[in-house]
Amino acid sequence: MPVHVTIDHAGSSSSVEPDAADGEPLVAIGVRAGAIADDAPGADPEVLRGNGFEGKVGQATRAVTTDGVRLLVGLGTEPDPREFRKVGAAIAKAGSGEQHLVVEVLLALDAKQRLHGATEISEGLSLGTYAFDHYKARPADKRLERVTVVSPGGQKITSGVRMGARIGEVVGLVRDLVNTPGGALTPEAFADRASELVDAEEHLTIEVHDRDEIEEMGLGGLLGVNRGSHVQPRLVKIHHTADSAKPKARVALVGKGITFDSGGLSIKSASGMEAMKTDMAGAAAVLGAMLLLPVVAPRMEVTAWIPLTDNMLGPDATRVGDVLRARNGKTIEVLNTDAEGRLVLADALSLAVEEEPDAIVDIATLTGACMVALGDRTAGVMSNHDDLARQVLDAGVAGGEGLWRLPMPDHLRAGLDSEIADLRNVGTGSYGGASTAAIFLREFVGDVPWAHIDIAGPSNSSSAYDEVNKGGTGFGVRTLIHLLIKWSKLSG
Ligand code: BES
Ligand code: MN
Ligand code: ZN
Repeated sequence: MPVHVTIDHAGSSSSVEPDAADGEPLVAIGVRAGAIADDAPGADPEVLRGNGFEGKVGQATRAVTTDGVRLLVGLGTEPDPREFRKVGAAIAKAGSGEQHLVVEVLLALDAKQRLHGATEISEGLSLGTYAFDHYKARPADKRLERVTVVSPGGQKITSGVRMGARIGEVVGLVRDLVNTPGGALTPEAFADRASELVDAEEHLTIEVHDRDEIEEMGLGGLLGVNRGSHVQPRLVKIHHTADSAKPKARVALVGKGITFDSGGLSIKSASGMEAMKTDMAGAAAVLGAMLLLPVVAPRMEVTAWIPLTDNMLGPDATRVGDVLRARNGKTIEVLNTDAEGRLVLADALSLAVEEEPDAIVDIATLTGACMVALGDRTAGVMSNHDDLARQVLDAGVAGGEGLWRLPMPDHLRAGLDSEIADLRNVGTGSYGGASTAAIFLREFVGDVPWAHIDIAGPSNSSSAYDEVNKGGTGFGVRTLIHLLIKWSKLSG
């Protein structure tokens, strides 16, 4: 779990209690590139430069100043609150050997920028030290327990720090889910954890549907994927009730929850399967966004739909060529059992549409093709609604997550025509797989404004950088909440 980030609004480090057992906390101060001598009086710029510290964003180093030992934190030439997530992560990493850090960096921003910087820096502080060591005999040394952000007063900034810390905490929790092995995080285990988390929040309610109910509901896609599995599927529905008589908008979120994707009978290669415990990252991101709603967007009415199963190849697994009937009545010929995400999403999207929301956003680790197109740090956005697509991209910028729109060209639709059913689950051509998958999903959203976010790449990272750790990243939580925050602020 991430460290505890608190705020000291008295506005001076002298009010911070020294840690009795551990002496003084380490104080982090902001240093601008090119102004090292001014910002860190007493520290020798030449020596610092020799150590590779130039005051750039992402850099942090200990140095003796006239005030004693300080953690110098690079802010770049012109401190920019949008960079403070990275600044926070750099502080947390450089200070991870301490028990208590006091962060004075907000003082480098002018008053107008401080609220923004406060949220970002506490997100970064909280996420920068994330590690998943649940299964380690000797967990990594986690000395850092407490981070105190010093701010020159203001209730708003205090709430900004709290919000950032809460976002960091929830993203950490999402990372934990994504990193948990498929044999441990079964559909039932995911649903149990979701219930536990949701029950602790006001304004959130949860329904968990088991196999029999899923059958009654006619979720043929989810059942078809679950057929080769030893464990039962679940359909989780979470609802957030707006904290006012007049909700701003009614929105549905849908997250792909494949707890392990072997590919089914169209089995994956050994290396292709290695990361497939993370195939529920969309589901986890949706859960995370829901958990944050009471704090970040209390006026939004939001329903989340999370279909959960693994994709296995037991004796009764869906055969290649089998036909499934989705919730909305459309039949699907399954020509590749490894294109399973779209089968469970077909049902979940159909359910979402029935409640006539103003918009639907789904998020899914859907296609390797999306990674081929955009690399592994950028999510693909596909939408039937230009305005909604733009808003999702803007929300990504606000949340510090990379997204790029991909098209749904008409000519790819024909590849999904089936000889014997309404649709095939894979196209006939070999190009444009991310777009083809989106065109398939579009068959299940009717006229509702809808955006699909393919996070196959950024849900998982092969290395640590900025506030991102190796493994599950929690990608999508921040984009989703910034979208909902924006909508909750619109007048009407
Ligand atoms: N879960 C995978 C997509 C994926 C691939 C996520 C790599 C993360 C990293 C999805 O279920 C899948 O297998 N998609 C197939 C679709 C194909 C059969 C049309 C793929 O991308 O190969
Ligand atoms: Mn698959
Ligand atoms: Zn999958």
